[in-house]
Amino acid sequence: MGIDEGLLLAQCDRSLLRTDLARLGRREEGKVRDAYVSDSRRILVVTDRVSCFDVVVGTIPFKGQVLNQAAAFWFEKTAAVAKNHLECVPDPNASVVRNCKTLPVEFVMRAHLTGVTSTSIWTAYARGDRVYCGHRLPDGLRRHEALPGPLLTPTTKAPKGGHDEVVSRAEILSRGLVTEAVFDRAAAIAQRLFAEGRRFAESRGLVLADTKYEMGLDPAGEIIVIDEIHTPDSSRYWVRESYERALHEGTDPIALDKEYVRRWLVEQGYRGEGPPPPLPDPVRCEAARRYIEAYERVTGEAFVPDTEPVEERLARNLRPFEVE
Ligand SMILES: Nc1ncnc2c1ncn2[C@@H]1O[C@H](COP(=O)(O)OP(=O)(O)OP(=O)(O)O)[C@@H](O)[C@H]1O
Ligand SMILES: [Mg+2]
Repeated sequence: MGIDEGLLLAQCDRSLLRTDLARLGRREEGKVRDAYVSDSRRILVVTDRVSCFDVVVGTIPFKGQVLNQAAAFWFEKTAAVAKNHLECVPDPNASVVRNCKTLPVEFVMRAHLTGVTSTSIWTAYARGDRVYCGHRLPDGLRRHEALPGPLLTPTTKAPKGGHDEVVSRAEILSRGLVTEAVFDRAAAIAQRLFAEGRRFAESRGLVLADTKYEMGLDPAGEIIVIDEIHTPDSSRYWVRESYERALHEGTDPIALDKEYVRRWLVEQGYRGEGPPPPLPDPVRCEAARRYIEAYERVTGEAFVPDTEPVEERLARNLRPFEVE
């Protein structure tokens, strides 16, 4: 378990920034994933790009491989709890999924009072707000502390370049983003998945503090979970013992997720405005180490880094899915 530092450093120059696999279908670029779409199928290639404050701030070695494999692990693990889009994983960095009509809402679940961005629940609480996204919060909670119970705090799904906005159930319905029936069914799925994710993370010595689900409608109109699930990009994972200590000492828990990169950027005075400062290799390596540790703790298995030149490998493994 764990990864060789030299290997990580060498991989800094070989990280996957962008793909161009036009033969796989219509290309759509997300902040982290390059998708190739044809008819009912979508190929999601997870690059090494890292986005903070909705801006791509650089790449993290092996991140795409870790995320793709972590999502596949969780999709399989939770398949009985909720249907999901995963069909197969033909490459360490790519998944073939069912293409869906995405719901314009992200289902964020939070079990702890934390966060550093302007829209996070801790930022709101610290400035005195006691209602967050329609939920009443008690006085006297400490930073990072567990909330009285997990809360669904949805956001809009902003188009590229925009920022997601926290919206209550009532606002979502009044804006007509989704119907009441769809919202409530999706909310119930998010609650069930989060309970399962937290229970399992706990058994691995981790706290799944919060996470975000995306959902879509399949051609039959059924709600299915899409994008990624319980990855260190879409979630906050804390080392359990460090959380207990942090609460006691008023410090921060050890975060095995994107928070490390966010905090580094904030220390440089960057919060998403203008061009980001370049991530130094030691910061990229430390971020990679944390992503890998989250993966290994969750799956209980060693991460097997694939160091074959990634573009060539993707082209070969995805050839059976070419459409033109
Ligand atoms: N099965 C699916 N059907 C349709 N769209 C999907 C499916 N799975 C994922 N997507 C969409 O593909 C895109 C994946 O790109 P990416 O993960 O880079 O997302 P993003 O929205 O740009 O960034 P972020 O996840 O940080 O908000 C997202 O817009 C997601 O909604
Ligand atoms: Mg995404």
